Amino acid sequence: MYKIAVIPGDGIGKEVMEATLHVLEASDVEFDYRFAEAGDEYAEKSGVALPPETIDTVKGSQACLFGAAGESAADVIVRMRQELDLYVNLRPVKSYPGTKCVFDNLDFVIVRENTEGLYIGREEYTEEGATALRVITKRASERICRFAFEYAKKTGRGKVTAVHKANVLKKTDGLFKDIFYKVAQDYPGMELDDRYVDATAMFFITKPQMFDVIVTTNLFGDILSDEGAGLVGGLGLIPSANIGESQGLFEPVHGSAPRHAGKGTANPSAMMLSAVMMLDYLDEYEEARRLENAIVNVLSESKVVTPDLGGKSTTMEMAAEVRAKYEKGNI
Ligand code: NAI
Ligand code: MG
Repeated sequence: MYKIAVIPGDGIGKEVMEATLHVLEASDVEFDYRFAEAGDEYAEKSGVALPPETIDTVKGSQACLFGAAGESAADVIVRMRQELDLYVNLRPVKSYPGTKCVFDNLDFVIVRENTEGLYIGREEYTEEGATALRVITKRASERICRFAFEYAKKTGRGKVTAVHKANVLKKTDGLFKDIFYKVAQDYPGMELDDRYVDATAMFFITKPQMFDVIVTTNLFGDILSDEGAGLVGGLGLIPSANIGESQGLFEPVHGSAPRHAGKGTANPSAMMLSAVMMLDYLDEYEEARRLENAIVNVLSESKVVTPDLGGKSTTMEMAAEVRAKYEKGNI
């Protein structure tokens, strides 16, 4: 029985969460859900977007499923990443059948450092304009590189590529690159590679099959993962994981999509695939594959799918279809 914090949040966050929990009812794994509040709606009635009780609930759980916040996203999700020291942002770039992908055979993962770099937000105005501080520490670089290698090993991937701009950012990215190769010494047999971020952005478009696991600093990872999302078609499909020493938080990449909220048209796939990532994180690999297969079957049949995928079904109709396949499925 896993203790799971559940934060539906705002807008379609609530709808895709309901759909995902409906599917997970058919799981062989048991979950003890602890519901918690955060987001715009909660802030309207209480004055705060992320109450301390919610942080405590997440801290007391093994994993958290998060839907989406609205305008308060920075105060909710960005704060949670910092408070819980969720130093890894894991974003798969995987093409699924029945979806609008630029390439139909992509399967790589971006491991983005989630706590420092330019995103520490230390900016100041100067006489000439403004300055931002970019912090790259040995500790954060070492743990993100180690995570990337461990992840590659665990998931049977054979190659890890460090992405940086060490030719210009000689000290900060020079350090990141050096640490990458130092950590790599503990993983003999793993194929290694390092590339400049600008060239990487081009290779995403021309030759993305060359990538397997990419490890990079915060801003580069943010930009490349959105580019990756563009390669495999549509915010309704892209899951993510935020992982720390003792916790994982799993969320779709999309937000609360207020224009879709309340209409039952939101695609629940990104949230469901985030649940797949949670099952993998909990080492429930068989269950993860069974759920992923059910989602992939529904996508490839393209019959009971939401309007963004060219279908006419509602969020809950699509969830019921995934659940039916999940119940029958074995691997
Ligand atoms: P968004 O991701 O909410 O929606 C952008 C567009 O993508 C939607 O209008 C819709 O056409 C499409 N879309 C997104 N998810 C979909 C789904 N599941 N099914 C079908 N179509 C989908 O981004 P937007 O409009 O920039 O932001 C809306 C609100 O969400 C803002 O208040 C923003 O602050 C918040 N937000 C929260 C995030 C989080 O909680 N992690 C992340 C991004 C935005
Ligand atoms: Mg982004």
